[in-house]
Amino acid sequence: MILTVRGLEVFYGPIRAVRCIDLDIEAGEIVALIGANGAGKTTTVRAIAGLAPFLGAITYNGKSLTPNSAEHNLRAGISLVPEGRGILGRMTVEDNLNLGTYCRKDQAQAAKDIDGMFERFPILRERRHSLASLLSGGEQQMLAIARALLSRPRLLLLDEPSLGLAPKTTVAVFELISSLRRDGLTVLLVEQKARQTLKIADRAYLLETGRVVTSGSAAELANDSLMTQAFLGGTPSHETGAP
Ligand SMILES: Nc1ncnc2c1ncn2[C@@H]1O[C@H](COP(=O)(O)OP(=O)(O)OP(=O)(O)O)[C@@H](O)[C@H]1O
Ligand SMILES: [Mg+2]
Repeated sequence: MILTVRGLEVFYGPIRAVRCIDLDIEAGEIVALIGANGAGKTTTVRAIAGLAPFLGAITYNGKSLTPNSAEHNLRAGISLVPEGRGILGRMTVEDNLNLGTYCRKDQAQAAKDIDGMFERFPILRERRHSLASLLSGGEQQMLAIARALLSRPRLLLLDEPSLGLAPKTTVAVFELISSLRRDGLTVLLVEQKARQTLKIADRAYLLETGRVVTSGSAAELANDSLMTQAFLGGTPSHETGAP
């Protein structure tokens, strides 16, 4: 198990945003965290990334993530693409990528890895000297993912990467996430687009008002009544006989 979360609770002042969350991620999996607005998805990934104090236990590679700090967790191999992407719009594309390597000691290799990102995302090479704010939403999401990959994570946390993207661009982002898993990366994918998410995920958790209400393999959840009622618009396909 690369990550185990047990009894996670996060408070904002007196407000308990998530409670009793148990979650497991095995190396090489895409695990989805699905839930409506305010369900606690961002809070959960921020706790895992070291950005929110929490109660309970988060174990990464068999070790406790306490004390939990963003820099420590990043160095340990946990990288977050935050909700809204976290691109620095007044910096160039290239400088945003450089930021992704700041925690690395092997700067010569890091420079090569930036070249590798330009190979993988030719549009970023083309626009390397542009201000990041001038990129389209889809290009900014690619930049955010490329920047996160430059810290060489083992576990990538993606917080609603498809938010605000056109349908075609959303498909491209989901394909990119699948390709990352093929490269051996482990992914925790926060999403509201349940149908598309369940097509690329191995397993999923459904959050409602700060709790996990159901979980299982992606195939099981595609037929789970709580999931279908909340997210897939109707009757589970095994009840209708639909594929
Ligand atoms: N900084 C904060 N201060 C107070 N309450 C907060 C804060 N951030 C989040 N919350 C509350 O915590 C709960 C969980 O929020 P969170 O952002 O984790 O949800 P989410 O599932 O990511 O939602 P969304 O899909 O809208 O991004 C919500 O009730 C929210 O209002
Ligand atoms: Mg959120």
